[in-house]
Amino acid sequence: MTKRQTRLFFIVGTLVFAGIFVGLTVDSHRQFGRLTNADLITADVSAGKDVWHDNNCINCHTLLGEGAYYAPDLTKITQHRGVPYLTAFLEDPSRFYSEEQYRRLMPNPELTDREIEQVLAFLDWVSRIDNQGWPPRPILVTGSRFAGVEAGARTADAASDEPVALGQTLFSQSPATCSACHSTAPGVQLAGPSLAGIGTRVATLLAEGGYGGSATTAEGYLREAIVQPSAHLVPGETFSAEGRSFMPDNYSQLLTDEQVDHLVDYLLTLR
Ligand code: HEC
Ligand code: HEC
Repeated sequence: MTKRQTRLFFIVGTLVFAGIFVGLTVDSHRQFGRLTNADLITADVSAGKDVWHDNNCINCHTLLGEGAYYAPDLTKITQHRGVPYLTAFLEDPSRFYSEEQYRRLMPNPELTDREIEQVLAFLDWVSRIDNQGWPPRPILVTGSRFAGVEAGARTADAASDEPVALGQTLFSQSPATCSACHSTAPGVQLAGPSLAGIGTRVATLLAEGGYGGSATTAEGYLREAIVQPSAHLVPGETFSAEGRSFMPDNYSQLLTDEQVDHLVDYLLTLR
C-alpha cells in the first residue's frame, strides 16, 4: 500500500465504524422506552426506587447483575415469589431465614407497610424489563435453583405434548415457576412445603379430616391449592399469616384452565 492508500484506508475505516457505532447507540436509545416499559412507571414505582436507594438495598443485592454480590439478585424476584410472600418477608426477614442455618442474614429494614408496597411495585417493574436473559447466572435465594436449568435438562420431555410432561415443564418455568418455592424432593422445604408424595398424601388428608376447603377429590384439592391457596392452609409459621397463604394468589389469572389441569396431572404423579 502507498502512503496515500494507507491514509484513505484509515479515514474511510474510521468513518464507517464511527457511523455504525453512532447508529447502534441511537437505535439503543430509541428502544429504551419499549424495553423498559416506560409507560408502566407509576408514582409507586418511582417512590419504590427511592425506598430502594434510601435503604441501601444495593449494598447487598444486585439488580440486572449490578450491585454488591452478597445477597440474591432481585431482578425477577416478584415473578418468582409473588407479593404475599415478599410482603411478609420484608416485614420480618428473620422469620424466613436463620443466621445459623444459612450463614447470611438480611437485617430488618424497618419499612412501613406503604414503603413495602412501593418497593415491591418498583421490583415488579424491574422484573418486567426485557433484560434478554441477563444476568445469565443470578445469585439466588437459599435453596432455589435457576428456573429453566432443570427444564433444559429434560428436552425430551419438553418436546412431548403429554399433559404430565407439559405440567412438569410448566412447574419450573415462567409464568408458573412453582419450583422457585416448591421442591419435589422429600423433606426439602423452600418458601413452600415439599410436594414429594403429594399425589398420595392428599387422599389421606381428605379421608382423615382436618381439611377445611370444598374439594372432594385429589384433583379438586390440587386445583384449589393452586388457584385459591388460602382455602386450605398447610400448617407452618413461614407458610401463612392471619389465614392468608404466602403462595401467589393470582394463578387463576396467570395460567389458563388447561395449564392448571396439566399442573394437577403432573402433581398427581408425585407418589
Ligand atoms: C446487609 C445486607 C442486606 C441488605 C442491606 C438488604 N438485604 Fe435483602 N437479603 C439479604 C440476604 C442475605 C438475603 C437472602 C437470604 C438467603 O437467601 O439466605 C436477602 C433476601 C432478600 C429478598 C428475597 C427473599 C426471598 O426469600 O425470596 C428480598 C425480596 C430482599 N432481600 C429485599 C431487600 C430490600 C427491598 C432491601 C432494602 C430495603 C434489602 N433486601 C436490603 C441481605 C440484605
Ligand atoms: C412464593 C412461593 C410459592 C410459589 C411460587 C408457589 N407456592 Fe405453592 N405453596 C406455597 C406455600 C407457602 C404453601 C403452604 C401454604 C398453603 O397451604 O397455601 C403452598 C402450598 C401448595 C400446595 C399444597 C401442598 C400440600 O401439602 O397440601 C400445593 C399443591 C402447591 N402449593 C402447588 C403449587 C404450584 C403448582 C405452584 C405453581 C403454579 C405453586 N404452588 C407456587 C408457596 C408457593
